[in-house]
Amino acid sequence: MSDLAQTGVYPASAEFVAKAHVDAKAYDEMYAASIKNPEAFWAEHGKRIDWIRPYTKVKNSTFDYGKVDIKWFEDGTLNVSANCIDRHVAARGNQTAIIFEPDDPLSHEAQHITYAQLLEQTSRMANVLKANGIGKGDRVVLYLPMIPEAAYAMLACARIGAIHSVVFAGFSPDALANRINDSEAKAVITADFAPRGGRKTPLKSNTDKALFDCSEKVKCFVVKHTGDQTTWIADRDVDMKAEMAAASPYCPYAEMNAEDPLFILYTSGSTGRPKGVVHTSGGYLVYASMTQQITFDYHDGDVFWCTADVGWVTGHSYIIYGPLANGATTVMFEGVPTYPDAGRFWAVCEKHKVNQFYTAPTAIRALMGQGPEWVEKYDLSSLKLLGSVGEPINPEAWNWYNTHVGKGKCPIVDTFWQTETGGHMLTPLPGAIPTKPGSATKPFFGVQPVILDPATAEIKSETATDGVLCIADSWPGQMRTLWGDHERFQEAYFAQYRGYYFTGDGCRRDEDGYYWITGRVDDVINVSGHRMGTAEVESALVAHEKVAEAAVVGYPHAIKGQGIYAYVTLMNDVEPSDALRKELVAWVRTEIGPIASPDLIQWAPGLPKTRSGKIMRRILRKIAENDYGALGDTSTLADPSVVDELIENRMNRA
Ligand code: WT7
Repeated sequence: MSDLAQTGVYPASAEFVAKAHVDAKAYDEMYAASIKNPEAFWAEHGKRIDWIRPYTKVKNSTFDYGKVDIKWFEDGTLNVSANCIDRHVAARGNQTAIIFEPDDPLSHEAQHITYAQLLEQTSRMANVLKANGIGKGDRVVLYLPMIPEAAYAMLACARIGAIHSVVFAGFSPDALANRINDSEAKAVITADFAPRGGRKTPLKSNTDKALFDCSEKVKCFVVKHTGDQTTWIADRDVDMKAEMAAASPYCPYAEMNAEDPLFILYTSGSTGRPKGVVHTSGGYLVYASMTQQITFDYHDGDVFWCTADVGWVTGHSYIIYGPLANGATTVMFEGVPTYPDAGRFWAVCEKHKVNQFYTAPTAIRALMGQGPEWVEKYDLSSLKLLGSVGEPINPEAWNWYNTHVGKGKCPIVDTFWQTETGGHMLTPLPGAIPTKPGSATKPFFGVQPVILDPATAEIKSETATDGVLCIADSWPGQMRTLWGDHERFQEAYFAQYRGYYFTGDGCRRDEDGYYWITGRVDDVINVSGHRMGTAEVESALVAHEKVAEAAVVGYPHAIKGQGIYAYVTLMNDVEPSDALRKELVAWVRTEIGPIASPDLIQWAPGLPKTRSGKIMRRILRKIAENDYGALGDTSTLADPSVVDELIENRMNRA
């Protein structure tokens, strides 16, 4: 690949620009307007969704540490489920809302669920929840495969005003129990099994284990999906499909305030237990729907496919809420990119004539390794645009995506955002902003990025600069608080750089004003586009009886972006062995889930600590990266010889 291909500037074709919702001139005008007068801008764009009682107030927010408070459209009322379903039924009741593509294409057919059917199924499920005592403000945890029932469940909660909290089906029973307890959920909706890549995860039995550690009042709704046998606890377990069949096919929707919580989604932070990110109804929906339409240049009749799981925010905003609020056709894929073979993504694109395709660099890198022949077998002429999310996309992956998937004619939108932000923050608008591989380019409307000096917290105002990325003012999709812990919310996001929302990311701005995310500057690592707190993995490791101490860092990994590198100090009388390594990996999988499995474990007789006992992760990161030359200042270490020992062990991979 040529250097030019890695560093060039890529404008969309004239044909693309001519049809795009937003061109360069419109972007400049709209962006300027959104910053100059956010009230007026969002007063106008808030109208893209249906309100029961229209808002008269638009923005009411302060980032001042100690009194952080964020409200949008605060006197408006609406129902999110009605916005995603009912308002489309008259005009497009027979249009497909959701295309469900099953894990195994040979034994199962795809399903096309129309808006009219979506209304009926969501209503039925909402009625089942209501009949079981679930109402406004109650929390419901969803632990489901990527099946239509996951969409019904989210929309059914929204319909009756219950707050959903989706837990990724790859999380362990322990992780599930923690989330049920932290949110004080009244119910869990799960399935018998989750088929993925030809294997089945026993969701119901995981839920049984989790509920052992929860209040006995928690109800358990079970979607019999594969039909395999599971245990059944009378009085607690409810057969969801059977009750839905018996329920009324229509459920009226509740009138909710714009600031009523829509969902909680747990994500990893730099310390301790996962954080329950709270998103509310009005601002979130305005922002998710506007970004889905404009970033992806979605037009009526297009088929949109975001390959994420609904267990992550990407699935919330760009499989469910954004597309459905826009009356789109959205693909829900139950499987994995490599099953039955490495051509699966492209087979699905061809089969459903996908127009916009949105995935993560880690998936692209994994498929790239299988060779372009898997892509070339399929007709991808329906594709108009490609998207990337989760981590910076490296030039090689970008080139491959552009050449083999996009055939050089699809703009690639590299979207930077976070669980906390609700929707895209930095992203090219494809008809307006020429892309540069690896750059998330420019801010979306209403987003005011600033780059601060990490040492002085001063704004770096030169165009070309670098530092930490903060946001100067609120946007409608922003999280409002951490569930039950507004203090921690302020501490985590507003304490370090007063007056700003701190993303946790490092960032460079080039001479053209393009933003380049350089990665997390806190103790969060990004594994395959998923966030993992090093502290979470450490506390799982030290919970093992043979482990005295553990320190976890990220290191560069060819496919995952970052891998998990664990330094483990064993208890005095314990001998290190390969068997013990395997045992510890298996242990972390059961404590958190497979996504947290350490890729490498290095035995560490001691860890580098300051005299006050703080582990110096900077040094551990360097050793994990095989970068011994630049360990930096080690003079504050209590025992500098520890470092030499670690380097020696690293070289011998002991
Ligand atoms: C972190 C957020 C919401 C998207 C899925 C991940 C990293 C995300 C990009 C991108 C560079 C990116 C950041 C961010 N990130 N997108 N396009 N380029 N880095 O959501 O789990 O909340 O993680 O993912 O480090 O802070 P998340």
